[in-house]
Amino acid sequence: MEFPVEKLISAAVEAREKAYAPYSNYRVGAAILTRQGRYYTGCNIENASYGLTCCAERVALYKAVSAGEHDFEAIAVTAATADFCVPCGACRQTLAEFGTELKVYMVNARGDYLVKTLDELLPCVFDRERLLSGTAGMVDP
Ligand code: THU
Repeated sequence: MEFPVEKLISAAVEAREKAYAPYSNYRVGAAILTRQGRYYTGCNIENASYGLTCCAERVALYKAVSAGEHDFEAIAVTAATADFCVPCGACRQTLAEFGTELKVYMVNARGDYLVKTLDELLPCVFDRERLLSGTAGMVDP
């Protein structure tokens, strides 16, 4: 599908304005685009109990899924850093639940990006098929 990459990136940059990151000060924004052309955005939300922090990508994904979306084309993620912002392992796994063909745009402060499919970022994924084929082949202890 052809889509306006610049629009996806600006949605992520705008979402970053809302980042709640008083501990790390690493402010992240994300925007996910559905195959039907709808955008959902998210920012990172930190917590005094550090481990409860939620990344921008998951906030965007959860907003989309809770609105009934399951088909995604692309996600953009950005921090205001010189280096490209890449999704953490937990976000890669969470996004993979909805397909590994997803295009992931990793954006830096200048708006330059690296793009890879989720399949490239998370090879040998543990997904629904592996879970189901695994349980079917389970051997009794
Ligand atoms: N973070 C994200 O929101 N997305 C990423 O891709 C990397 C990390 C957040 C989590 C935490 O609030 C802060 O960045 C530092 O790890």
